[in-house]
Amino acid sequence: MDEIRNKLWAIGGGKGGVGKSIVTIMLGASLAGQGKKVILVDADLGGSNLHTLVGIKYPLYTLADFINRQVENIKDVVMDTPVENMQLICGADDILGIANPKSTQKTRLFNHLKKLDADYIVLDLGAGASFTTMDFFLFAPNKICVLTPQITSIQNAYGFIKASLYRGLIQVFRNEPEAKELVKLASTAMSGENIDSIEKLKESLRSLDQQYESDLNTYLENLQMKIIINMVRNDREKEVGNIVKSVAENYLNLPLENYGFVPYDKILTNSINQMSEFLQNRKDSISSLSFYDITGNIIRNSQKPAIHESQFSVKVPASRL
Ligand SMILES: Nc1ncnc2c1ncn2[C@@H]1O[C@H](COP(=O)(O)OP(=O)(O)OP(=O)(O)O)[C@@H](O)[C@H]1O
Ligand SMILES: [Mg+2]
Repeated sequence: MDEIRNKLWAIGGGKGGVGKSIVTIMLGASLAGQGKKVILVDADLGGSNLHTLVGIKYPLYTLADFINRQVENIKDVVMDTPVENMQLICGADDILGIANPKSTQKTRLFNHLKKLDADYIVLDLGAGASFTTMDFFLFAPNKICVLTPQITSIQNAYGFIKASLYRGLIQVFRNEPEAKELVKLASTAMSGENIDSIEKLKESLRSLDQQYESDLNTYLENLQMKIIINMVRNDREKEVGNIVKSVAENYLNLPLENYGFVPYDKILTNSINQMSEFLQNRKDSISSLSFYDITGNIIRNSQKPAIHESQFSVKVPASRL
């Protein structure tokens, strides 16, 4: 079970067009190039395009076939890509009605994803903060939020992180009605209202039961949230990562790892229509070094002491179950 913590990564970010899919592909290709076995998952249900980006025009199988039980084992929808060591589970259009899978469908999907044979499984999430997108984000023990230095992207990323954090927290306290109610209040509070910060939520939870506060602290520590700033154009923009990190730490009490930045790279914009060709004949570009650095962080992450699955997902003391 410990290996799940190292191998599952979700790439989200709230805003559309910030480069989640490109980052997913480039990190996947970089890891694959270092001999790691990688499976990318197009979890942008309803708006999938990873297959097109890697040069698969008509996917033979998609996630919809698995979700709708056309195939029983998720292994059967894994497809090869032109990049050695990198495979893909294609997404599907919403015509197939899978943009909002039922919770039983999600549970089955998550259980199968965990069992896939790969060193790294990287989930490319859709834009926005739908429940399904947040559930994918929360499911993966390692969460990378991609944003650009634009103020709207920063706001969206912060909103996405905050909304996901609270959704996960409601799950943590799902069997504790009073604590759950406080979390719900905090999640919708406007600034100036009673419990409008994690700090105040901690206080309120503490006054109910000290154990609740420590559950909250453990949850925050284990969220394993990271950020990447994409399309950076100058030195000043490189600092955005540190600013977001300190805002998240101050206002959400959330440890956020700054995984680095990717420069704006014309080659990436220009190659979008010939991504598979680009991936196969990849020459070093100004962004390749950044992706290499970020995969270094991802690989080093595995060397941290592993924590048990129960510590990064739902954690309610057995005594209160
Ligand atoms: N570092 C970069 N430099 C230049 N262009 C980039 C960079 N990263 C991404 N792009 C370009 O930005 C556009 C959007 O990228 P991408 O499709 O990966 O975004 P996304 O976040 O996945 O969008 P969506 O939310 O719609 O799925 C693409 O044209 C891509 O080539
Ligand atoms: Mg995308």
